[in-house]
Amino acid sequence: MRRHALCTQSAGPRVVIELDHVSKAYQTETGSTWAVGDVSLRIANGEFVSIVGPSGCGKSTLLNMIAGFLAPTSGTITVDGARVAGQIHPSLGYIFQKDTLLPWYTVHKNVALGLKFQDYPEQQIKDRVAELLELGHLTAFANAYPHQLSGGMRRRVALLMTLAVKPRIVLMDEPFGALDTHTKTHLHRELMDIWRKLGQTILLVTHDLDEAIMLSDRVVVLSSPPSTVLYDERINIAHPRDVFSLRGSPQFLEHFQSIWGVLGQQFRAAA
Ligand SMILES: Nc1ncnc2c1ncn2[C@@H]1O[C@H](COP(=O)(O)OP(=O)(O)OP(=O)(O)O)[C@@H](O)[C@H]1O
Ligand SMILES: [Mg+2]
Repeated sequence: MRRHALCTQSAGPRVVIELDHVSKAYQTETGSTWAVGDVSLRIANGEFVSIVGPSGCGKSTLLNMIAGFLAPTSGTITVDGARVAGQIHPSLGYIFQKDTLLPWYTVHKNVALGLKFQDYPEQQIKDRVAELLELGHLTAFANAYPHQLSGGMRRRVALLMTLAVKPRIVLMDEPFGALDTHTKTHLHRELMDIWRKLGQTILLVTHDLDEAIMLSDRVVVLSSPPSTVLYDERINIAHPRDVFSLRGSPQFLEHFQSIWGVLGQQFRAAA
């Protein structure tokens, strides 16, 4: 049984994100909507963890609470040992589910935005943005505006915007949703390279189980709302991973089957 015992992690690397019995109910005109029921989760420094679960189970809500945009109804969240209480952690980067590029700024200016907020010297901003655009294969589009880009390019710009300020902790909400397989696979490879170089702690929300297994150290399955953690599996595939050939490998299929055994039940129950 590969199921992960959450309590054993305290003996390992430093815990960077910790959710302790977190719940969230939204108040609406017709009453309360319980999105998150009772979620406890620990993510260690440098870990890449993916969250999967049915639509509406509170995945975006969880990220928004970790980022400090929303307060939990009950339970506590700590980032880097400090309780999250409405403030945004300075080491945190967030790629939102919705596109957040500024339409009146060029690609270059969008990527530079976070660095400008942090008052970096002009030359450093220029150099860093040039380096990032090269990494994202977007150098030729530095002066293009968001509406002139394809969906895949826009997602790449959003990724670079977040990485520009070198966040130690990255929250990603379906950053590769609605992309074609080719673009997605290339972005996966780029993200893996960046993660291996910079060693950030990454929490990714995705609907794509293939993606979750290929990229992550752990895959966490949430139940239908009000959500709880149903399953937490460590992905025992060594890095660096070849995302092009991994999908058909026996290790990949074994992980897919065991996680889908739990996740698929949530979809079947909802049907
Ligand atoms: N601001 C809000 N006010 C009231 N209800 C909300 C609000 N935001 C989210 N919800 C509800 O909370 C539940 C969880 O929403 P959330 O967006 O976190 O789900 P999700 O798991 O990210 O879904 P998806 O996979 O479709 O992105 C849903 O039932 C949603 O309708
Ligand atoms: Mg969502």
